[in-house]
Amino acid sequence: TYVIAEPCVDVMDKSCIEECPVDCIYEGARMLYIHPDECVDCGACEPVCPVEAIYYEDDLPEQWSTYTQINAEFFDSYGSPGGAARLGPTSNDHPIIAPLPVEPR
Ligand code: F3S
Ligand code: F3S
Repeated sequence: TYVIAEPCVDVMDKSCIEECPVDCIYEGARMLYIHPDECVDCGACEPVCPVEAIYYEDDLPEQWSTYTQINAEFFDSYGSPGGAARLGPTSNDHPIIAPLPVEPR
């Protein structure tokens, strides 16, 4: 799967959403999350992110290695909705993301 990492937090450019053929990029309150079971690894989202927040899981920079789990666990309460359009934007974040300090980025 592809994974969205920390640079997305409070940026949420959303260019990635337009590129995803299976609509598996879901909106939290402070960042977006890729559904690991719905992502088909097409890679279309990765180059369009202006802050380089998206990585193939094996290529995640070491300091963001926890984001594979963070993206996956975001869906613990949602299961597999089968498309972000069905769920809509949420006001939730993973418990590690929600309390992150707001920083100028
Ligand atoms: Fe976030 Fe980049 Fe998408 S900032 S919303 S991962 S285009
Ligand atoms: Fe969609 Fe990106 Fe996966 S475009 S299918 S989330 S690699």
